[in-house]
Amino acid sequence: MSLTDLKKEIIQLRQRIDEHNYYYYVLDNPIISDAEYDKLFQRLKTLEHQHPEWITPDSPTQRVGAAPLGSFAEVKHDIPMLSLENAFTDEDLIAFDQRIRERLKTHANVEYCCEPKLDGLAVSIRYEKGILVRASTRGDGTTGEDITDNIKTIKMIPLHLRGDSIPRVLEVRGEVYMPLKGFQLLNAHAKRQNEKPFANPRNAAAGSLRQLDSRITALRPLEIFCYGVGVTESVKLPIKHSEILKNLMGWGLRVSPLIEVVHGVEECLRYYHRMANKRSKLLFEIDGVVYKVNHLAEQEKLGYVTRAPRFAIAHKFPAEEASTIIEAVQFQVGRTGALTPVARLKPIHVGGVTISNATLHNMDEIKRKGIHIGDTVIIRRAGDVIPEVVSVVLVKRSMQVKKIILPKHCPICHSMIEQVEDEKVARCTGELICPAQRKETIKHFASRRAMDIEGLGDKLVDQLVDHQLLKNVADIYHLTEDQLANLERMGKKSAQNLLTQIEKSKTTTFDRFLYALGIREVGQATAKQLAMHFKTLSALQKATEEELQMVLDIGPVVAAHAAHFFDESRNMDVIHRLLKAGVHWPDVKISHSLPFLGKTFVLTGTLRTMTRDEAKEKLEKLGAKVAGSVSSKTNYVVVGADPGSKLDKAKALHVELLDEEALQRMLL
Ligand code: IVH
Repeated sequence: MSLTDLKKEIIQLRQRIDEHNYYYYVLDNPIISDAEYDKLFQRLKTLEHQHPEWITPDSPTQRVGAAPLGSFAEVKHDIPMLSLENAFTDEDLIAFDQRIRERLKTHANVEYCCEPKLDGLAVSIRYEKGILVRASTRGDGTTGEDITDNIKTIKMIPLHLRGDSIPRVLEVRGEVYMPLKGFQLLNAHAKRQNEKPFANPRNAAAGSLRQLDSRITALRPLEIFCYGVGVTESVKLPIKHSEILKNLMGWGLRVSPLIEVVHGVEECLRYYHRMANKRSKLLFEIDGVVYKVNHLAEQEKLGYVTRAPRFAIAHKFPAEEASTIIEAVQFQVGRTGALTPVARLKPIHVGGVTISNATLHNMDEIKRKGIHIGDTVIIRRAGDVIPEVVSVVLVKRSMQVKKIILPKHCPICHSMIEQVEDEKVARCTGELICPAQRKETIKHFASRRAMDIEGLGDKLVDQLVDHQLLKNVADIYHLTEDQLANLERMGKKSAQNLLTQIEKSKTTTFDRFLYALGIREVGQATAKQLAMHFKTLSALQKATEEELQMVLDIGPVVAAHAAHFFDESRNMDVIHRLLKAGVHWPDVKISHSLPFLGKTFVLTGTLRTMTRDEAKEKLEKLGAKVAGSVSSKTNYVVVGADPGSKLDKAKALHVELLDEEALQRMLL
């Protein structure tokens, strides 16, 4: 065969594969068998292998192949990725529809596009001249992470758009999720490998998309449904949301077949109940439905509140409940040694997921609910929260039930368990000798809001502690490539990546460092207050309990914990080793004036010139505390456009109100 013929064949093969992908994934109507498809794919691979110079980045063979990343790059969203308000009852929805009609000044039925609310994670995918160039996570709505390599491994996402009138730029938005079947297989595999299974399909999808090595993502059964667009260029969009979705399908993007256009709130409710009935038969999880005003002109009229559009709402399904038997109770040891009783259940299917554990919180809770081993209990699972035991079905209690007894010794390190009076929790007294506490302390230290060591996840920490490579957090900075590369599921490359991340984490901030140390009762907010107040580690370390209590929001309990922490020579050793290894932070600005020290602000409504987070940050830099709700302790309420109920509360409590201009003057 001549070279041109070969090249032609390659191009044709690509087109045929793309076409079959479209029939299979988007139209859900394959026209060839899997075996025939595989044959085409193999042939293309062979030819490309012979002529690597002809491989194009959007060839169907090029979905995996990028080298693992050291970290994800940031992607700033040109149009923010918003979230949705929630409705929990029919009445909530009726009120929503009422508000819409009032704002649109109409008595007529509003046209809504009804969609299943998929339980996965939102992504944005950018096509330029029809070619997939970048994909990112939602992140905080303003900035997400670049997950292009990972998104490209999902076969139902086209690497290039099909059709003629392709926009110069098209940013598609949708939800990546893991179908239930794939989730069960993945977890069964994890169990066989002695790895911790994912709690639910959503976590599994998120964990799979946030892999630095796209070869791992490629092995995960991920799918997508597209539900909207972001930035577009050189395309005239239709006047209705539902028509935009049709265009997306035309371009080869997968859209849920369960989407329907209805008129008026009654039909919305009918859709909701239809979906609720269908839910258990679906191949993927949904946690409610979404209604969107269908006409774009009306959407525009309605506009946005702070983080969500006014023209759409999510109508959530109620938490699901089921009954099963408690077969045993075990005690888990947390970072501070706190013992959490966990019920091992006879596995039960709730809302598409098999549940075999539920938290019992603490001994008080067990007593209050009268739970015994062997009891039949009602289990509740809501979204991604840990399943819990709601109540005991007393009529089903047998004579054989057993009392749940708090152990005298730690199930992990066998140290004594102590139960401090008037504290609900029982604790293992083993502290650093307890491997369970050690593991949790290290996981906390490495976590995103603390030292943010990407790649040092739970499973790896477990392995490192079990292999005695980590005894405390300072050891992290002495790990070597050889030690890491020899661990399960690690290789040279991932070891190097992790070391890069560890190195990167050495540059941090004082408040992150304090939070990372895991001092009892010192959360992020308290760590910030401590950092701002004391500015340096040595000042904080020398502070007495009385001095600590001078800090905003710090009472006797936290002060005692903090003082005790720095008194402990073992803790000081670890801190010195961390500093010696190179952990450092810039000086906390000695601001000559912290004009708002001791003042509490509450923000409500939309600000024009900055987001609420930005306003919060600016205020906090000047010493203020920014609280989430209004109380008698609030000094100022900043009122943006369309304020919520916080404004009413502020008025009722006679709290001073500031508009955006006044706030800006104060920030100057
Ligand atoms: S629309 C401006 N449609 O729900 C509206 N979101 O709470 C933005 N979600 O972050 C989202 N299914 O991850 C929309 N059919 C659907 C959805 C959906 C699931 C998720 C999405 C979003 C969250 C909002």
